[in-house]
Amino acid sequence: MTELLEEQRESWGTRGGFVLAAVGSAVGLGNLWRFPYELYDHGGGAFLIPYIIAVFVIGVPMLILEFSMGHFTQRAAPNAFARSHKRLEFVGWWSIILGFVIITFYAVILAYCFSFLWFSIKGIVTGGELPWAGEGLTGVENAKSFFNNTYLGKIDGPSLGNIRWNIFWPLVVTWVVMYLCIFRGVKLVGKIVWLTVPLPWLMLLILTVRGLTLEGSIEGLAYYLNPDWSELTKATTWRFAFGQAFFSLSLAFGGVMITYASFLHRKSDLNNNAAIIGLADFGTSFVAGLAVFATLGGMAFVTRQAGHPVAVQNVAEGGPALAFIAFPYALAQLPYSAWFSFVFFFALATLGIDSGFSITESVLAAITDKTGWRRCVVLPVISIVGLAIGMVYITQGGLNWLGVVGDFIDGTWGIAFLGLLECITIGWLWRVDVLRRHANERSDWKLGKWWDYLIRIFTPVILCSLFFWSLFDDLTREEGFLRSPDGDWILPNCVGLSVMILVPIAAVLVSCARGRGDLERRNSSEMNLQAKGQFGGTIALVLAGASAVLIMVLFRFAVEGRHERLLLCASLPLPAAAVIIGNHLLNRHNKSDTRASRLARWGGMLGTIDIGGFIALCLVYSTSKESEHAAHPPQEQLSTVSYVILGAVSLLIICGLGWCFYRALSAANEDAGIQHPDEVGDEEQETDA
Ligand code: PHE
Repeated sequence: MTELLEEQRESWGTRGGFVLAAVGSAVGLGNLWRFPYELYDHGGGAFLIPYIIAVFVIGVPMLILEFSMGHFTQRAAPNAFARSHKRLEFVGWWSIILGFVIITFYAVILAYCFSFLWFSIKGIVTGGELPWAGEGLTGVENAKSFFNNTYLGKIDGPSLGNIRWNIFWPLVVTWVVMYLCIFRGVKLVGKIVWLTVPLPWLMLLILTVRGLTLEGSIEGLAYYLNPDWSELTKATTWRFAFGQAFFSLSLAFGGVMITYASFLHRKSDLNNNAAIIGLADFGTSFVAGLAVFATLGGMAFVTRQAGHPVAVQNVAEGGPALAFIAFPYALAQLPYSAWFSFVFFFALATLGIDSGFSITESVLAAITDKTGWRRCVVLPVISIVGLAIGMVYITQGGLNWLGVVGDFIDGTWGIAFLGLLECITIGWLWRVDVLRRHANERSDWKLGKWWDYLIRIFTPVILCSLFFWSLFDDLTREEGFLRSPDGDWILPNCVGLSVMILVPIAAVLVSCARGRGDLERRNSSEMNLQAKGQFGGTIALVLAGASAVLIMVLFRFAVEGRHERLLLCASLPLPAAAVIIGNHLLNRHNKSDTRASRLARWGGMLGTIDIGGFIALCLVYSTSKESEHAAHPPQEQLSTVSYVILGAVSLLIICGLGWCFYRALSAANEDAGIQHPDEVGDEEQETDA
C-alpha cells in the first residue's frame, strides 16, 4: 500500500467531519420524503422487518465494504474497482453514471423544496396565510391544485409541454448552493456539514414534538405503525425495502461512500463509523415518519372538530404528493401554519442539500481521478450539464418523467441490482479478506470471518433472489411491461428501461477509455500470483452452469404458470456444491502464494447467482401473485403490537448508538497516550518517506 500513500490526497479535517458528511449524504430527502410513505404503503409496522434486515444485515456490512474499498485504494468508485480488479472499473462507472442520473432529478425535488420554503417565508411575512390553505376536502383539492396546476402546470401523458420558469430559478439556486458547498474541496465540506446535519435534526425534533403533542396524533400513528403482515408476502414490499435502504444509506449507486472514505486519514475507524451512520439514518427515517403521521393525525382531528372531516387516508398518498400536498395541507389546518411550514421545508432542503452535493462530489472525484483534470474545471461543467438535463423535469410533463426514471432506479434493474454486482464481483473476483483486515486494523471493533461470507455469498443470494423475484413480477404483469396486451408499446417503461440499459453501456465505454489518472494504476499483486485449483474450478463451473440452465427452464415454466416441483428440488444441490467448491478453493489458495483459478471464481459466482434464482423460484411458487393495495381501513387506535414495535425500534436506535459511541470513546481514550505519526495528514508523507 505504500505506493498509494506517496501522493497527497485531500482529507477530512476530523473524524466528526467525515461521520457527519457521510450521515449528511445518507440522511436526505429519502428519509423525510420517501420513507414515511414507503412504510405506509407497504404494510405499516410490518415493513420494518424487511427494512431492518436490509439496513443492518445487508446495508451496514456493505457500508463497511465501501468504506474499506475507498480507504484502501484512496480512490473514487471507478478507480477503486479498477484497483481491486482491472476489469471491474465499469462497475464503478455504472454506479457513478446512475448517480448522475439521480442527481439530475434529486436537484429538481430540492428546487421544489426551495420554492415551498419561499412560499412559507412569504406566508410568514404576509401574516400567516399559505397559498394552498383551504378547508375540508375542498381544501385538499386546493392543495392538490396548487401543486399540480399553479406550481407545476402539470399536463398528463408523455408529452413534456413548456418549461416552467418558476421552477427554473430555484433549480439554479440548488445547483449554485451545491457548487458553493463543494468547490473548495472536502475540507470545507467537513465544516459545512456541522451546519447542514444538526440543523434539520433540530427542525425534525420540533416537528416531532409538535406532532406528537397534537390531539389526534395517535390516530395518525396508527396508520403509520399498525402492521399489515400480508404485505410481507409480496415481492414489491421486499424490493422497496431494499431499494429504500440502499437509497437511504447512499449505497451502491453514486459511489458516494467509497469516495468519501477515500478522503479519510490512514488511521481512521471504518466499522464503527458505518454502524453509527446506519443507525443514525434509520433513526432519522423512523422519527421523520412519526413527525409526518402524527401531524396528519392532528389534522384529521382538527378537521373533524370543524365539521369538514378529512381522514388520514384522504391525503396520505405517496411520492411528491406527501411532501408537497398532504403535509403542507395538514400544516395549513393547524395554528402557526406558515412557521411550521417553514420549519418543514427548511428541514427538507437542508437534509437534501448535503445528499445532493455528495453525489456531485462523487461524480467529480471519479472524473478527476480518471482524467487528472482540475476540479475547478470539471465541477462547473458537471453542474451546468446536470442543470441542463434537469430541464426535462421542470417542464409541464416533467414530474411524470421524474416518476418514471425514479421508479426504474428503484426497480428491478436499479440500485439493489448494482449492490448485487458490487458484492458479487468484489467477493469472488477480488479478496474481501484483505479489505476486512484493512478495516479491522483501524476500527474500534472487529469483524469476524462471517463478514467475508456475508459479502461473498449471503448478500448476493438475497439480492439475487430479490432481483429474479421482481423480474418475474415485471414479466408477468397483467397490464404488460413493455407492451400492453393490445400490443401497444408502453412508452414510459420503454424509456425507463432504455436508460437503465444505456447506463451500463456508457459505463463500459468510459472504463475502456484511457485517462491520465490510469497511468499510475498498478495491477494488484494478486494478479502476479500463480493460478491454482483448475480442476476443482472446472467442476464448480460445470455444476453451476448446469443448474443455471435448469433454473432458466424452471423460470420459463413459472411464467407459464406451471409448477415443476421435482425439478425445483433437484436444482439446489448443484449450485450449492459449486459455491462450496469455489469458496473452498478461494480460501485455500489465497492464503498461499498462489491464487484461486479463474474457473473456481466464476463457478462460485455463478453458483451464488443460481441459489438466488432458486430462492426466487420458491418465492414465486409459494406466494400469491401481487394484488392491488387493499385500501387502508380506518384506524383509530395504535394496536398493542404497534406499541411493541415502537418500543423495540426506539430501544434498537438508542442502545445501538449508545454502544457505538461508547466504543468510539473507549478507543479514543486508549489512543490518548499513544502518538500516531499518521494522525495528521501532512505527517503521513514523512512517515512513508
Ligand atoms: N441517501 C440520500 C437520501 O436519502 C440519497 C442519496 C443517494 C445520496 C445516493 C447520495 C447517494 O436522500
